[in-house]
Amino acid sequence: MTNLTSFVQGLPKAELHLHIEGSLEPELMFALAERNKVSIPFASVEDVRAAYDFSNLQDFLDIYYAGANVLRTEADFCDLATAYFDRAAADGVRHSEIFFDPQTHTDRGIPFQVVADGLLAGMAEAEAKHGLTSKLILCFLRHLDEDAAFETLKAAEPWLDRIEGVGLDSSEVGHPPSKFARVFEAARGMGLKAVAHAGEEGPPEYVWEALDLLHIDRLDHGNRALEDAKLTERLAQSGMTLTVCPLSNLKLCVIPDMAAHPIDRMLKAGLRATINSDDPAYFGGYVVDNYVAAAQARGLDRDDLVTLARNSFLGSFLPPAEIAGHVARLDAWAAAN
Ligand code: ADE
Ligand code: ZN
Repeated sequence: MTNLTSFVQGLPKAELHLHIEGSLEPELMFALAERNKVSIPFASVEDVRAAYDFSNLQDFLDIYYAGANVLRTEADFCDLATAYFDRAAADGVRHSEIFFDPQTHTDRGIPFQVVADGLLAGMAEAEAKHGLTSKLILCFLRHLDEDAAFETLKAAEPWLDRIEGVGLDSSEVGHPPSKFARVFEAARGMGLKAVAHAGEEGPPEYVWEALDLLHIDRLDHGNRALEDAKLTERLAQSGMTLTVCPLSNLKLCVIPDMAAHPIDRMLKAGLRATINSDDPAYFGGYVVDNYVAAAQARGLDRDDLVTLARNSFLGSFLPPAEIAGHVARLDAWAAAN
């Protein structure tokens, strides 16, 4: 292990952009296919990994939704979450705010209850086992219509005391945030936080819409915001957290190579950027791999890495006193290492 890797691993950090379905490793996909007697279009684990060669977001989403078909029972969702939290704990993650896509499951007949209770069981287990706390964020699939999002919000009602916020994911281009303004307004009226993927493949206008129409508390990706100086200034001035995902950006061809990643430009522009893994089973690495890849390609120094980790706590939806505790422990760790 390099010094850089062990330093990043030791840094206490939060993860704020992680799709739990995107943490389904091929080995678990095969095990669940067998357990549930579901057939999958792959002959072996190697076959699955070979299929993970994407030229854009949609290429990936087609495989990601197909993979999720093996998830059928509460135990499956619990096992999925447990596998992620074990990896995250080993990476020094102390708190994680995970996305889930209920419509991917309810549309194939899996009740919302199975998904939510399975994930919540895995979350409780991670806190008991690793002291790793977590929150759930319900994402609406933006390629579906707003009525379907409203139905999902309705199905979630009995669990709203255990769901922190709503998000917006799936195919970005052609599905602007404006399509979901009313459902986000309803969700915020129920006391939920709001986040949205914007500016991953979509233009800066989608980021403006996420701010002004969805009233987001946090921006997922946001890479293309840098194309608009006024927007960048607005994000910096308002202290908006960006959940940036370097290996995802590389695998989905948002950037041509890691040397072109904008993470250091984001920090220099005064943006509260964080580093996250997005869909680690599909993009070749968990959160430490993302910090290390970005640091090596862009020459991030120790202070940058500590800033990114500090931003991850500051941008979390934890209560202020808990954030302050995490930041104090991070600063103490950084001073001692
Ligand atoms: N769903 C899972 N990962 C995603 C991403 N990076 N962008 C949009 N939707 C997603
Ligand atoms: Zn994402």
